[in-house]
Amino acid sequence: MTAAPSDDLARPRRLDKWLADGGAGSHAEIAALLASGRVAVGGVVEHRGSRLVIPAEAGVTIDGAVVEARRPQVYALLHKPAGYLTTLADPKGRRTVAALLPPEWRVGVVGRLDRPTTGALLVTDDGDLNNLLTSPDSHVWKRYRLTVVGELEPGDPRLQQLRDGVVFQGTRSRPARCGVVEGASLPGRDGTRLGVLWLEISEGRFRQVRKMATQVGFKVVRLHREAIGPLPLGDLAEGAWRMLTDAEVEALYAVAGGREAPATRAWAALLAQWEAGALEAVDAGCFARCVKHG
Ligand code: URA
Repeated sequence: MTAAPSDDLARPRRLDKWLADGGAGSHAEIAALLASGRVAVGGVVEHRGSRLVIPAEAGVTIDGAVVEARRPQVYALLHKPAGYLTTLADPKGRRTVAALLPPEWRVGVVGRLDRPTTGALLVTDDGDLNNLLTSPDSHVWKRYRLTVVGELEPGDPRLQQLRDGVVFQGTRSRPARCGVVEGASLPGRDGTRLGVLWLEISEGRFRQVRKMATQVGFKVVRLHREAIGPLPLGDLAEGAWRMLTDAEVEALYAVAGGREAPATRAWAALLAQWEAGALEAVDAGCFARCVKHG
């Protein structure tokens, strides 16, 4: 795979990115590690994810265990079964998707699926790609299949409501695409008919599909994610995972804004200035200004 400028190991990196690339977990998990004082740089506890880490000084640790500077290595697609939480560790001891993955992987989950939801879930130790795909500015289409109570007709007015966007929690969802999966109608347990529809959305608000469907009057009995951007789940068996090809990783980067997305570009420019001696220090404020103003 071509090395992106942002994964050049010789360059300084933000501490949170170092941890993400080292497989310390998702954005939220890393924030929690930092907040709880479990992360140190050179033996000194560090709470700021924005702190610049220079490979030569290194010595990044979590609970005293060294987190090496690494290039992302794992990009995998998992077929999540129902009944698993989309996290790698649960304080209440419930089943998580970690049970389905090799224990040596130090990865983060990209986005989330509710416990009963099945389907396509990405896991990776590439913090850049994870951030790009899950950022609120990301508009990558995700395709879902919903099984709902009652027969469905292609002209069902509720479908048009979904396409137009649905207001929930005070905000209208972005326009969606949807349609009836013809010939997929099923008998339900008590003899009622069940209909099936497909829905594509380009956002990832909490429980968004269920909320949109409920809001327009559908009763969802099953939710399954069929594809994330250009990546269909295909015939991967439930509970199984497979590694992505280089072409699939590049396709995901492309739909998420590209390896040269504004934040990545701004950061690379900043580091180039720092390396040339034009900047004495690079901090979070500097980075934020750079992203905002280019
Ligand atoms: N939207 C939902 O409501 N649930 C999911 O699991 C995914 C998207």
